[in-house]
Amino acid sequence: MALPTINPTTTEAWKNLQNHFEDIKNTHMKDLFANDPDRADKNTIIWEDFYVDFSKNRITEETMKYLLQLADEVKLKDAMQGYFSGDVINETEGREVLHTALRAPKSAKVLVDGEDVMPEIYRVKAEIETFTNKVVNGELKGFTGKAFTDIVNIGIGGSDLGPAMVVESLQYYKNHLTTHFVSNVDGDHVNEVIKTLDPETTLFVVVSKTFTTQETLSNANTLRTWFLEHANQEAVASHFVAVSTNIEKVKEFGIDEANIFPMWNWVGGRFSLWSAVGLTISLAVGYKNFESLLEGAHDMDEHFKTTDFDKNIPVVLALLSVWYNNFFNAESEAVIGYSQYLTQFATYLQQGIMESNGKSIDRNGDRVNYQTGTLIWGEPGTNSQHAFFQLIHQGTKLIPADFIGYVESLHGNSDHQDKLMSNFLAQTEALLNGKTEEEVLSEMATQNLSEAEKSKLLPFKVFEGNKPTNTLFIKKLTPASLGKLIAMYEHKIFVQGVIWNIFSYDQWGVELGKQLASKILKEFDGSENYEHDNSTLNLLNFYKKGRQ
Ligand code: F6P
Repeated sequence: MALPTINPTTTEAWKNLQNHFEDIKNTHMKDLFANDPDRADKNTIIWEDFYVDFSKNRITEETMKYLLQLADEVKLKDAMQGYFSGDVINETEGREVLHTALRAPKSAKVLVDGEDVMPEIYRVKAEIETFTNKVVNGELKGFTGKAFTDIVNIGIGGSDLGPAMVVESLQYYKNHLTTHFVSNVDGDHVNEVIKTLDPETTLFVVVSKTFTTQETLSNANTLRTWFLEHANQEAVASHFVAVSTNIEKVKEFGIDEANIFPMWNWVGGRFSLWSAVGLTISLAVGYKNFESLLEGAHDMDEHFKTTDFDKNIPVVLALLSVWYNNFFNAESEAVIGYSQYLTQFATYLQQGIMESNGKSIDRNGDRVNYQTGTLIWGEPGTNSQHAFFQLIHQGTKLIPADFIGYVESLHGNSDHQDKLMSNFLAQTEALLNGKTEEEVLSEMATQNLSEAEKSKLLPFKVFEGNKPTNTLFIKKLTPASLGKLIAMYEHKIFVQGVIWNIFSYDQWGVELGKQLASKILKEFDGSENYEHDNSTLNLLNFYKKGRQ
């Protein structure tokens, strides 16, 4: 079944939300807390090892009622049904969207074109497991008989960001293998990585769903050329493996069919880390941990599928995001992980969220008359507090933020962990309450300041507060809890796409730049004046004169 095609602005709920917004837009959350001692309890979802407090949002019971009404009116339940059961919900590419099947149990049955895909998923998983174990325990060797020490993941976008983020996030669980990620077509990237490699002990994993991506093929070629400076052609078979849907292209590149891990068209690139695209994850942290990551994600799938919307974490987060995006006109959202391990998490989410929901044509083919995809950004706390938090606290823009923290630290250093968590809690409290004139004045009363100095400083020291945050408090950073967290955001993306009536699983917008780049590339060696706007032509000629 196709996804529903309802313009959200035509729903009763949307009108209710618009009217309600006028009533509530100036309400301070501080007052909402003061008027309801149970506010936090009422607006917290405790599920497995997740404690999700969304009480520090500019919402009342009425807001949630209308947001939930919106979910019903846009037929979210029906859409979810299609999402999980393999309907062609990526209509513009004619594809199912089945990353959830990759983490479903063996006993599940998921049909694509009438065929159950679970046996094939589990066959490839078994291949990943066997291969991982052989590399990790040193059974598989390089061309001079030495065990592998380094893995180079060659891919870009979804074939890089997911594996890179997970390997970074699960650094604590890593084995002895050193992992590298080469993504940018910038030759300085690959050459910096080459500097650290030993060809005898390096395994290359070329990841490309299409196997036509310029960046990945260029990097793979450069690495193979470098490798062949040290080894003969036969050695390529034991040092290069690939992950792709395009078996013919991989073979053309020179990789042995036995070294190809397949993936499928029904897995979108930015949702593919659960497939063989996650091979580098499995190699880096071991297959068991990779499996736990998938199991965690599956738990979140079940939560999403079976929980009433008012207690459903991805649904609630998506609705709140719509509330700010479409009614408060908030343009961006920050994701702040209070764990250094989550350094790449926001970067990873940028592709998931912005490539999916950065659309302006709705599912009827019409231009939308409302805002869609949010900008997403963030850096770990506490570093970000010393970088951009000033703007969140006292700037002119409303920036809803997700704060992600872990109760337990992995290395068990309680001194550091207490300090980290005190900041984690303090920031959302400060963003909620701000600081009033009275509070600033009473603080200044203890300082040696003249009355003139006090009144001069006063306006700068006042914090308005009323800045919305969600607190995602998780027991511990484990492969399973990371899987849940990633799946939670994947489902949030889906829900928002359904509400905004857009196709979240295509990415036509990245094509034009690719086409123009390949045209311009050919023009660097030509002598004629090509057809371009004046600016591009000048820049092109500037480069042609200056290039080595
Ligand atoms: O940037 C566009 C895109 O198609 C992404 O969606 C995808 O993750 C990336 O390029 C890489 O594609 P591939 O895995 O086919 O090399």
